Amino acid sequence: MTNILVKIPATSANLGPGFDTLGMALSYYDQFEAQTIDSGLEFEIHGEGEKDIPRDQSNLIYQTIKLVFSKFDKQVPAIKITCHNNIPHGRGMGSSGAAVAGGVMLAAGLLLPEIELTEQQLLDFATEIEGHPDNVAPALFGGLTIAWNDESGPHHKKLTVHRGVSPLVLVPPNQMSTKLARSLQPESVPHTDAVFNVSRSALLVAALTQSPELLFAATEDRLHQNYRASAMPETSKLIEALRAEGHPAVVSGAGPSVLVLEDDPVHRLEAMRFVAKEFSTWNAMPLAVDFKGASLERQLGSGS
Ligand code: HSE
Repeated sequence: MTNILVKIPATSANLGPGFDTLGMALSYYDQFEAQTIDSGLEFEIHGEGEKDIPRDQSNLIYQTIKLVFSKFDKQVPAIKITCHNNIPHGRGMGSSGAAVAGGVMLAAGLLLPEIELTEQQLLDFATEIEGHPDNVAPALFGGLTIAWNDESGPHHKKLTVHRGVSPLVLVPPNQMSTKLARSLQPESVPHTDAVFNVSRSALLVAALTQSPELLFAATEDRLHQNYRASAMPETSKLIEALRAEGHPAVVSGAGPSVLVLEDDPVHRLEAMRFVAKEFSTWNAMPLAVDFKGASLERQLGSGS
């Protein structure tokens, strides 16, 4: 019997101007387990999505494990997958990225000791399933990640976030589909807006790693948030209200959650007080930046 346990952080992608490029791992986790069994495929799902997540071969974690095994011409063994899901679903906190990163890590554990996956393979396989690397890169590697694609596939650079940076995620009761959000993006944007985002995303890397006092200017965006605003009016309202008070608020991933990248914990507390008073249906989650990323434990036993 082999038992693989993985722990995957939530992630926030885009971070304002860094559309499909920047992402950050946060101290909130899903935990998945794959245990070899005598035959078949079994699931045990707890927490988020426990009522509606498929418990068959169409399950995203299973699909990901299967893809990784197919890369090595291997069949997935009979397994039981157990999920402890904490990351809210459909909220822009990287729950699907966590499932995909989790599936890749479970596969990596199941393939040991015969095959040892490299970091690049983990990212390649996860991006192939997820479609873009900005959530799976920080979910796998932690910290702040810059992700990009070229003809050879996805790449990433991991950076350490300045210790003053104090993330706050504000989660609404409703969900938003990433597919819908992506369908609202235009085919092209004005050159001035492209230049605007180049300047802000370059500044954002400096603000997050060295100069958090620049976070307000660095989190401005013209590439995606306005185009998607009609699909999440409450999110836009909250971001506008927070920014009017001087808080660096952006849409978290494809939304509808809001990420506030404060430059110190006192400002974060002020933002939380403001939200509790004016937007009380939103759940405030003050989180740390996770620097470790996905972790894996492999247990070997004599029976199931
Ligand atoms: N960069 C992605 C988007 C993140 O905004 O569509 C959500 O998966």
